[in-house]
Amino acid sequence: MEYLDKIIITVIAEDSVLYESPYWGQHGISFYLEAFKDKIKSNILVDVAQNSQALLYNMKLLSIDPCSIDAIVLTHCHYDHTQGVVEILRAIGKKDLPIIAHPDIFRLNFITSPYLRHVGIMSGDSKKMIEENGGTLYLTDESFTIMPGLITTGEVFRQTNFEEVGIPLKTISNENKIVEDIMKDDISVVASLKDQGMIVITGCSHAGIVNILKHSSKLLGLKKFRAILGGFHLIEASRDRIDKTVEALSLLDIDFISAGHCTGFEAQVALYEKFKNKFLPLHTGLKFIYEN
Ligand SMILES: [Fe+2]
Ligand SMILES: [Fe+2]
Repeated sequence: MEYLDKIIITVIAEDSVLYESPYWGQHGISFYLEAFKDKIKSNILVDVAQNSQALLYNMKLLSIDPCSIDAIVLTHCHYDHTQGVVEILRAIGKKDLPIIAHPDIFRLNFITSPYLRHVGIMSGDSKKMIEENGGTLYLTDESFTIMPGLITTGEVFRQTNFEEVGIPLKTISNENKIVEDIMKDDISVVASLKDQGMIVITGCSHAGIVNILKHSSKLLGLKKFRAILGGFHLIEASRDRIDKTVEALSLLDIDFISAGHCTGFEAQVALYEKFKNKFLPLHTGLKFIYEN
């Protein structure tokens, strides 16, 4: 079992900014990870939100140089996590920069209410555009090791009976049928630290946050979660689903949760009521440091 020595996680894009915050908010999420092991430091961008101008502005305020980015993980296809990835690649200005994602990420992914709209990867961020701008795609449905102690979940096994995607999304199958899109491409990032346990970073948790945590636990053979950070996509969930999610989370060994983006106010309140000072709403500019 391999562990990181230390990880610093900075929230560089999120839907909310605090009172007197200098950062620019946007609907979307992006994390900058600084992972340390032995004498190696690797910097990973997890998602790019949807407005690269706001993302680069926040990075500048936080003294994060885009050229320092060594790889990008795209947690799923949605535009509020992927739009402008080509702009970010241009700002990074490197060749062969690894972009890690699920093989289905470039598919059509749409809603028909309130009107027909593709909500997946936009044409400006196509496979071809990414490759022409210095990105090398690592597309796999398996758990991917970014460095020892830092992995992606790969496709998440769905096991709970109360979790689902959270939005009525559709796609068109290879047989040209309109089918429900169950967001197989939803992946998360998991860091592990020897004395602290796992730190899970999610985009929207379309696979279900409880499914993601159970899957991570099984992958790594660990039970302790030092922190869960990201979106839980409970914004349109029923009260019953929110209650079942919070109850299931309370049965796991979790030290701290910071959830925002698509989590929704009702779920944030429910999480706060259960976890009290072990819960914090996620917002732009937050920095988390975990060290052995
Ligand atoms: Fe999202
Ligand atoms: Fe999403």
